[in-house]
Amino acid sequence: MAKIESRIKEVREIINTANYNYYVLDNPTISDAEYDRLMRELQQLEEEYPRYRTSDSPTRRIGAAPLDKFTTITHRIPLQSLDNAMDETEVREFINRIYKTLPGQAVEFVAEPKIDGLAVELVYENGFFVSGSTRGDGITGEDITQNLKTIRSIPLQLRSGQRPVPSLLEVRGEVYMDRRDFERLNEQQLAEGKPAFANPRNSAAGSLRQLDSRITATRPLNIFCYSLGSCEGISFKTHLEFLQILPQWGLRINPLIKLCKTAEELIKYYRSIETRRDSISYDIDGVVFKVNSIEQQQILGVKSRSPRWAIAGKFKARQEITQILKIEAGVGRTGAVTPVAHLKPVQIGGVTVSNATLHNQDEIDRKDIRVGDWVVVQRAGDVIPQVVKVITERRTGSEKPYQIPATCPVCGGHVTRSNDEVKHRCQNINCPAQIKGRIQHFVSKRAMNIDGLGDRLIEQMVDTGLIENVADIYFLNKEQIADLERMADKSAQNIIAAIENSRKTTLARFIYALGIPNVGEYMGKVLEREFKDLETLIAADYERLETVEGIGPIVARAIRDFFDEENNLQTVKRLLEGGVSIAQGVTGPQDERFAGKTFVFTGTLTQFTRSEAQQMVEKLGGKASTSVSKMTDYVVVGENAGSKATKARELGVKILTEDEFREMIGNV
Ligand code: IVH
Repeated sequence: MAKIESRIKEVREIINTANYNYYVLDNPTISDAEYDRLMRELQQLEEEYPRYRTSDSPTRRIGAAPLDKFTTITHRIPLQSLDNAMDETEVREFINRIYKTLPGQAVEFVAEPKIDGLAVELVYENGFFVSGSTRGDGITGEDITQNLKTIRSIPLQLRSGQRPVPSLLEVRGEVYMDRRDFERLNEQQLAEGKPAFANPRNSAAGSLRQLDSRITATRPLNIFCYSLGSCEGISFKTHLEFLQILPQWGLRINPLIKLCKTAEELIKYYRSIETRRDSISYDIDGVVFKVNSIEQQQILGVKSRSPRWAIAGKFKARQEITQILKIEAGVGRTGAVTPVAHLKPVQIGGVTVSNATLHNQDEIDRKDIRVGDWVVVQRAGDVIPQVVKVITERRTGSEKPYQIPATCPVCGGHVTRSNDEVKHRCQNINCPAQIKGRIQHFVSKRAMNIDGLGDRLIEQMVDTGLIENVADIYFLNKEQIADLERMADKSAQNIIAAIENSRKTTLARFIYALGIPNVGEYMGKVLEREFKDLETLIAADYERLETVEGIGPIVARAIRDFFDEENNLQTVKRLLEGGVSIAQGVTGPQDERFAGKTFVFTGTLTQFTRSEAQQMVEKLGGKASTSVSKMTDYVVVGENAGSKATKARELGVKILTEDEFREMIGNV
């Protein structure tokens, strides 16, 4: 018995440490597979020996029975908000006000990104997470303890640090969702016939405010801690001192936090974070500057709702007002008809915007968007600009409602909409828009990755009748390509080489490349993991498909419809005849650039998480390690890379930027 109890404790400790290394130190020490294995072992042991269950076991992160409603929690100390500085001048005014109140004193500031998520408060008593709440109105919030417990980067018990864990600690922070996770979640939501979230913030908020915490447990939420509420048994001289102890206790802080000593340094930080905004993997809507000294904070004091010692430096608006000149329907590769608003061109955050997607007819009807309307347009990250709302006050009466046409604007085919779909679709499979679109998608980087086969060339090939579908690509020869207008011999040779390189692929890429409606990259991977090879997938009936976790009726139907269509099966067959070879199993193809090679990742990666990058390397036959030695083949350096990059240089180990690494992975 004692043996079992100690094994349970040991596994808990390994899992907690793995979480800590992964989330707080951003330095994973075990693989996802190993993590899952340990988690299963712990679950089984706790099931078999319920007397060893504890409330802070990592198995408790799967959520609890649903609530009828949330109860409220009154914050011991109200959560304040921040004043805004709209530009650099207003930041300077803030700094000058502080210098004036503290004449002759040196003032240090802590600069932090302003995370665009949901503010929460976590309460720890004697190191144990006892409750957590939303900000609410600042005085009272909702009790979301069960939901917060499912977030792996929130420790259920604090670790010991250089300073003892206090008897009471209230920490405030922002719960958020990475943009990539948000996109993946939306892909999944749509596939399951559920509505998509508008942005990562909404999806974090929606996930956290679930009455059923088991749903929250499935959502990829994360937290950055940034301020102190009530606390007993410890005090801090500076804000930075507080922030720096948090990771020791297991609480996550933002890696971009910086101590600034002069106004110029603050302005520099403000500019640099705004410039890098799109390359950071989560949404931020500004920066926050806080006076570092707690004593000075107390002298400066608070106003009614916000402190005088802190300010939010907002970023330039990503929204502008402009007019819709006309609305046109575009036809995508799956026949989906998407209405696009053509706008009077407007500058948004340094980019000229002249089109915005209107998504579908429901969206147009819901927002009551009409041709001629003045609208608020928003640009976020690398997302296509969107119409946020109509300014109805500016209507003159001459605005015209819009209806997606019943015939395809490209081929004149029927445009219809099935009951369970929001999209209208052109039903003609020979619609040229679909053919070109399908081929463009098929060759794209994350699909078959045929470099050099650009949109113009595809258009030329389709228009001249050289190719009619994706399989034709694999029967092309150099002379046929070289015969095309404006095509040099050398370029034709390169394209043939790129086609050759693309022949070896993975099942996930292949499925994604086929362009089945509602089957994106993520779904490709889900199907690969489940079915391992193409024949098994094609043979799977609707019922079988629906049993796969993450696949709902819409995706199951779409996959079945796709493979039930004889033309599509023929195309798949011809692709294989053309030499496309799909690696068996989940391991993907072995690639000599990866096989047996050791990779180390350091610094902050922006395009994938470190564990994703490590998994990719492993899938391609390489090894991922955490320390640099002479045995290391490649060190991939992200942002703010430190000693590992230096060591790699000293040892003469090949250094790759994140983009170079992406390129290496992408070309496989
Ligand atoms: S400090 C008294 N730091 O911004 C200081 N807030 O308008 C209280 N936020 O409700 C907040 N990132 O949701 C602080 N690094 C950061 C933040 C941050 C995001 C949010 C938070 C708060 C709002 C203030």
